[in-house]
Amino acid sequence: MPRTIIVSNRLPTKILRTEDRLTFQPSEGGLATGLGSIYRQEGNVWVGWPGLFVEDAAEAEYVGEQLRQDSMVPVFLTEAEIRDFYEGFSNSTLWPTFHYFAQYATYEQAHWEAYVAVNEKFCRAVLELAGPEDTIWVHDYQLLLLPALLRQARPEATIGFFLHIPFPSYELIRVLPWRQQLLEGMLGADLLGFHTFGYMRHFLSAVSQLLGFSSQNGQIETGSRTVLVDAFPMGIDYERYVQAAASETAIQHEATYREALRAVRVILSIDRLDYSKGIAQRLRAFELLIQRYPEWREQVSLIMVVVPSRDQVAQYASLKEEIDELVGRINAQYRTIGWTPIHYFYRSFPLEELASLYRLAEVALVTPMRDGMNLVAKEFVASKADQRGVLILSERAGAARELSDALIINPTDTGQLAEAMHDALVMPEEEQVARMSAMQALVRQYNVFAWSKLFMGRLAYSKMKQHTLA
Ligand code: UDP
Ligand code: G6P
Repeated sequence: MPRTIIVSNRLPTKILRTEDRLTFQPSEGGLATGLGSIYRQEGNVWVGWPGLFVEDAAEAEYVGEQLRQDSMVPVFLTEAEIRDFYEGFSNSTLWPTFHYFAQYATYEQAHWEAYVAVNEKFCRAVLELAGPEDTIWVHDYQLLLLPALLRQARPEATIGFFLHIPFPSYELIRVLPWRQQLLEGMLGADLLGFHTFGYMRHFLSAVSQLLGFSSQNGQIETGSRTVLVDAFPMGIDYERYVQAAASETAIQHEATYREALRAVRVILSIDRLDYSKGIAQRLRAFELLIQRYPEWREQVSLIMVVVPSRDQVAQYASLKEEIDELVGRINAQYRTIGWTPIHYFYRSFPLEELASLYRLAEVALVTPMRDGMNLVAKEFVASKADQRGVLILSERAGAARELSDALIINPTDTGQLAEAMHDALVMPEEEQVARMSAMQALVRQYNVFAWSKLFMGRLAYSKMKQHTLA
């Protein structure tokens, strides 16, 4: 039976070496959590890096065996590959460029060469696994060259590609020395998916200006092939979050937190530590809130979960210092014996504990400078069974295209953000319910299963059309 081979740099399971033991844990990040519910269906397989440097062939064999039992196939990367391909080209060149932080981008030929080599490595792993009938679905910016590499080896293969981060304006893409190769790499797919029409338009414009290929109705003619491009806003496994929020564990954790916080009202934020997430700006806005509205002091706390991420990359390490310092300063300045303005957690939480925080919070602050989609916003919405609660959402998160009933803000406008927090805290219950129920209907309907079905249906259709035309 034909399968779908999902390929991404990171597997949904990461392996940690603790003393002399290996522990298997769920990975963080929207790609892993979102697709995590999809890949186990219908005998699919997920190919990717398990986040571990293996010590020898025996360990590689053991890890491979363990992962295979859960439908995963590991691609092992060396320390040099992680430095040059992952921390280097993927996260110091592509990530900042695609998130409009071009000033953070580096352009190293050695990093590019590692990027090419690792994409080739993934190509070999997929070819070893995929039969001619299988569909190959490649994900995200770490593997932009993979669709064309696969196409070269298997001209008839069915290949989809989805980008989980923004695709920026042509003006940013044109700065990249390897811009042409990157676009050509993506065009190896039959269907390219983006979270929003805006990202898709930027891609079509880059392809037209840099490669000279025109497009009509999201169909690019490359001369030899037709490539379809479309917007597919990714959803979440809605029921999973509804159930997690209703679980006994989540309810118990919420009660424990509530007891410790007493009557203090809670604003929540959850992100990986990343400059794209607007964490420092959010802290300044919270400080402004308690400066402008002293009546909120001792009444409201910010619970801020920051998940460690890419800490070997210089910009991430310095952001960590900035956040530590800001939290320390704000807490030292405003705290009282009975009140901590900011509860800051620098670690990840299991699903049920995240769910308890979603339950506890009256306001969720999702304020990225740029974000492909942002699934945390949707998870908060899904977790609010009583439909109370307010989502404050950045206009520059992909999710803002759909969640128009959130309080939409410009994350660089600290004053507007502080006012939005105030408005959220005083919002009448009927308005909260009206906004939340509208968002719930949308997030429930356009869930991750609908998303993948739509993408796969369109991919199958594009293949069928190619065959009819041939
Ligand atoms: N997440 C997690 N553990 C944590 C905090 C967050 O698994 O301790 C998950 C969160 O539930 C969400 C994902 O990480 O599904 C973050 O995805 P999002 O799209 O918001 O941002 P990304 O990290 O992909 O940029
Ligand atoms: C974002 C990216 C994913 C990535 C995740 C976690 O969601 O789109 O491709 O896996 O962040 O980042 P990491 O570098 O730890 O894989």
